[in-house]
Formats: sequence, structure tokens, C-alpha cells
Amino acid sequence: MPDSIIINPGILEDTYLPRLVPYREEQQKYLAECVNPLLSGIYGKNVLMHGSSGIGKTACIRFLFRQLQEESDNVRTIYINCWKQDTSNKIITSLAKESGITFIERKNMDELFTLYIRGLKKPVVVALDEIDKAKDMDFLYRFMEDIKFKTIFMITNISGWISSLDARIYSRLHAERVEFKPYNLDETRGILKERIRYSFVPGSWNKNAFEKVVMKTFNRHDIRFGLHLLKSSGQNADEKNSKQVLDEHVDSVLEKSCF
Ligand SMILES: Nc1ncnc2c1ncn2[C@@H]1O[C@H](COP(=O)(O)OP(=O)(O)OP(=O)(O)O)[C@@H](O)[C@H]1O
Ligand SMILES: [Mg+2]
Repeated sequence: MPDSIIINPGILEDTYLPRLVPYREEQQKYLAECVNPLLSGIYGKNVLMHGSSGIGKTACIRFLFRQLQEESDNVRTIYINCWKQDTSNKIITSLAKESGITFIERKNMDELFTLYIRGLKKPVVVALDEIDKAKDMDFLYRFMEDIKFKTIFMITNISGWISSLDARIYSRLHAERVEFKPYNLDETRGILKERIRYSFVPGSWNKNAFEKVVMKTFNRHDIRFGLHLLKSSGQNADEKNSKQVLDEHVDSVLEKSCF
């Protein structure tokens, strides 16, 4: 749309990773500290990150991985979404593929994983996002047993999930816990303001309309919902040929919303 007030819609996508992830500095520092020992040839720490939806768990891990990739050639980062790759077979196959190990028909998963491990030349930092969705945990057992220098980040929305693990895996993990709490009102406002700054024409948000989005997002404790509200309200203003997003544009999105 040539006259859209949204100049950079990609920034409003929930997959967009901002340059910084403000208000999560403490968690970021801690996560980085868990990896640091690996850079000095010592074992890393394993961590369970938990908290509700849309509050920066994945964003923090992606931020850390981006930093590690930019700053160090000495560790390998592996990100796995266990909702999408929900079995050990799928995970091992994709790790092997990523490492250039071609799948030979008769090779079973065990052999494939052994080949993968043999090819690892650096310590690894593994993020297992949505780990509660994994249908089996064999891969985690193999990670624990066969990879010596590693840090495993497990990310879940279910705080008690770890106690459902097989005792043999639980006992090997020695995981520390990092809780992500929902953002307060000022933090919610700060995050949304920053997204608007880079995605909308300056001055396109009426103050009251923006505050409405902030309050709705804060009440739901979900930044993803706020991003959806910003984008849809902006599109709504566009459709009405308005150069500013007003209360009514936000209201009509909220009326149609299933939330
Ligand atoms: N502190 C922050 N600064 C900027 N953007 C943030 C911040 N926290 C979250 N976001 C943004 O909010 C959206 C949702 O965050 P994220 O994907 O990290 O949620 P999550 O906690 O992993 O949720 P889920 O449990 O549903 O996977 C993303 O677009 C992310 O960039
Ligand atoms: Mg996530």
C-alpha cells in the first residue's frame, strides 16, 4: 500500500528479533554466564527457562545465540523447536542433515546420532524450545550422555514440567531454573513504543489509542497480542484513509478479536 502509515511491517511480526531485548537484561546476563565456562573448556550449565506466553523467552535465547554467533567462533549453537520437531528421530535427522551428514537408508537413529557426535568439534549450546511438546526424550538422554561440553537451555510454559522427566535424565541434568515474569505496565509500554518507532510513520499513533493498546497488552501479559493489535489497528487506520491510528481503529480490532 503506497500511502500506508506502516513503513516497516516486518518489525511488527512476532518472529522479528529486535536489536535489543530490554527489561530482560538480568536473564540475558545469567544465560550468557551459563555458556561462558564452555569458552574456557569447562562444562556449561543447563537451564530450565519457564514463564507464560509472549513474554520474551524465545527472544532472549535468539538474542543470546545471535550474540554468540557474532562474537565467538568457539561454540556451536543449535536451536530446536520441539513443537515442530517433536520426536527424537526428527531431531536427530535434522541435526545430522544440518551437519552435512547424509542419511543412508539402512542407518538407524542410533548410528546417525553417533556419526553426528563424532563430527562435533566444538562445545555446543542447545536450545530446546517448547520442550514440553517433545513426544519422547531419548534425544535428551543422548545429549546428556554423549556430548561432554555443552549447555542445554530448556524452554517451557509449564513450570512443573521438569518433574515429569524420567529420573535418569533428571538426575543427569542438574538444571537451574530461570523464571520469566510478565512485564509490568511501564515495561509493556516501553516495548510497544520501541516497535512503533521503527515500524510506523512518526506521529501516526494517537496517544489515547496507544495507551489503549498498552493497557490491553498489559492485562493479557502477552507482548505478541500487543504486536498483533498494533499491526491490525494500523491496517484498520489505513483502510479508513486515516493518517493516525485512533481509538476507534483499536476498538474495532478488539471487537472482532477472539481473545
Ligand atoms: N523485552 C522485549 N523487548 C522487545 N520485544 C519483546 C520483548 N519481550 C518479548 N518481545 C517480543 O514479543 C514477542 C513474543 O516474545 P517471545 O516469542 O520471546 O515469547 P515467548 O515467551 O517465547 O512465548 P511462547 O511461550 O508463546 O513461545 C516477540 O516478537 C518478541 O520479540
Ligand atoms: Mg517462545
